[in-house]
Amino acid sequence: MCGIVGYVGGRPALDVVIEGLARLEYRGYDSAGVALLAEGRLATAKRAGKLVNLRGALEEEPPPAGTLGMGHTRWATHGPPNDRNAHPHVDCTGTVAVIHNGIIENFAALRGELEEAGHKLGSDTDTEAVAHLLEDELKSGGDLAAAMRRVCRRLEGAFTLVAVHTGDPDLVVGARRNSPLVVGVGDGENFLASDVAAFIAHTRDAIELGQDQIVELRAGGVTVTDFEGRPAEVKEYHVDWDVSAAEKGGYDYFMLKEIAEQPRAVADTLLGRIGTDGRLTLDEMRISDQELREVDKIIIVACGTSFHAGLIAKYAIEHWAGLPCEVELASEFRYRDAILSPTTLVIAISQSGETMDALMAVRHAREQKAKLLGICNVNGSTLPRECDGVLYTHAGPEIAVASTKAFLTQLVAVYLIALYIAQVRGTKWGDEVFAMVQLLERMPEKVEKVLETMEPVRELARSLAGERCVLFLGRHVGFPVALEGALKLKELAYMHAEGFAAGELKHGPIALIESGLPVVVVVPPRARDVLHDKIVSNIQEIRARGARTIVIAEEGDASVEPYADTLIGVPAVPTLLQPLVTTVPLQVFACELATAKGHDVDQPRNLAKSVTVE
Ligand code: AGP
Repeated sequence: MCGIVGYVGGRPALDVVIEGLARLEYRGYDSAGVALLAEGRLATAKRAGKLVNLRGALEEEPPPAGTLGMGHTRWATHGPPNDRNAHPHVDCTGTVAVIHNGIIENFAALRGELEEAGHKLGSDTDTEAVAHLLEDELKSGGDLAAAMRRVCRRLEGAFTLVAVHTGDPDLVVGARRNSPLVVGVGDGENFLASDVAAFIAHTRDAIELGQDQIVELRAGGVTVTDFEGRPAEVKEYHVDWDVSAAEKGGYDYFMLKEIAEQPRAVADTLLGRIGTDGRLTLDEMRISDQELREVDKIIIVACGTSFHAGLIAKYAIEHWAGLPCEVELASEFRYRDAILSPTTLVIAISQSGETMDALMAVRHAREQKAKLLGICNVNGSTLPRECDGVLYTHAGPEIAVASTKAFLTQLVAVYLIALYIAQVRGTKWGDEVFAMVQLLERMPEKVEKVLETMEPVRELARSLAGERCVLFLGRHVGFPVALEGALKLKELAYMHAEGFAAGELKHGPIALIESGLPVVVVVPPRARDVLHDKIVSNIQEIRARGARTIVIAEEGDASVEPYADTLIGVPAVPTLLQPLVTTVPLQVFACELATAKGHDVDQPRNLAKSVTVE
């Protein structure tokens, strides 16, 4: 997610904007820029890399001193991180500047229209089209706010936009759809930002903008309307967080914030990839349909939580795409004599795109002439550069070491790839792919629903803080979920935890069961009756031996009630999509239990967010 700051008032705008961007650095970014209005001129500066690079550019060419401006830190979604793609973006006349957070789904069509009309666009971004659309709307009359309203009515996707124009030298205009935008209300000055951390050093009086709203910011006041120009209801509030809490959105830890961001992250990862006809469009993958038709084997390489996403991908790829799929720990793969060929598709999953084990596996596969596809959350990281194609997750920066929202968006990415291959190869009829895609589009609300019911999970976690060990069981895609739940508990609570395929219990692990031992069981949907009944038997077996059973099952699944000491209900979803809802309670469980033990869940001991060594 990008960082946005806007200002108009009595102070030097550049100082306020740069200070605000510095407050937003925690969000992670790959480039930064500012736009300032002074003496009737628009001055912009932008640089790839950290704020220090932008400061250097501003020292080399100091902009005119003014009291109105805006700034941006970019988390790249469209176009690699470089000076050209950094924000702000300007129109042909150089009198309109725009900064943006989000994804404009229909930017390609808009860009085509603009270029047809003679506009020159120089970046790879979706944002630049907005500057030129505003240019055209301003020509047809009205002020910047009216122009912004007309442009926003043409945009599809998630966007927070802030713009300035030399024709309105005392006005900053913002627009919000989905991505957050807050107003800081000062005395003779006003602020705009993607989160309050940017301005609470100056004012704690804020206005949260709602969906499809336009804000006009002047030194003397703030006006909020909807996209049609009608006055809009706004929610004013007083920010009582300190700066550190503000960076975490009011949460005590980034991990809690990132768990809460999962519905948005899932929605953003779907954005722009589902056509109006329900067909998938993954053209940014840069692997042609013909090449996909020639693939005869898929190998997934990854580490840790990303490896668990790969295990779930296997079930989806085999079921929908009808292709053999192996999943390998990246650190093991490169020492195996794997049999690869140009018709093998190797998919490397990595949130950071910098995990050395994953990179070395990719290089090993490259030597074997395999086709390489990366699934990554960081635009411009090493992994995408070393793959033939990439599918970015749009989770936004994941600061906490323990991966949560990145994992859920990796699942969305692997579902999209499996369904896309099915669509290309015809292994699933259009209506089946279409139906599953429609279900995928409803997953953000399902994840939201899970998040609303987590208090009993937190209470349970606190009650188990003194335990030495927790086991996790699952079948089918519930098995990788069990592994992920165990990993979260290990890395956060420093407890012994182990995930098992429930069918394996009788082959040894059941000897571990003793009175009071907490065992979490992930139960498949009732629709998978054979699988479901077998795991209910497993629950009976461990309960009979004294285990404390913590059961995660579909809401209303009465068959497990007699054997569950604690029953956690999740929304009913198809089996393959169930990890999107069953993983969330395990994230919350591990985070709460670790917090109860006094651990820093953002920075667990011995761990790094990206393991850049082998
Ligand atoms: C997950 O919570 C851990 N932080 C770790 O297992 C992580 O998933 C693994 O190191 C892989 O990282 P990557 O996705 O950035 O490659």
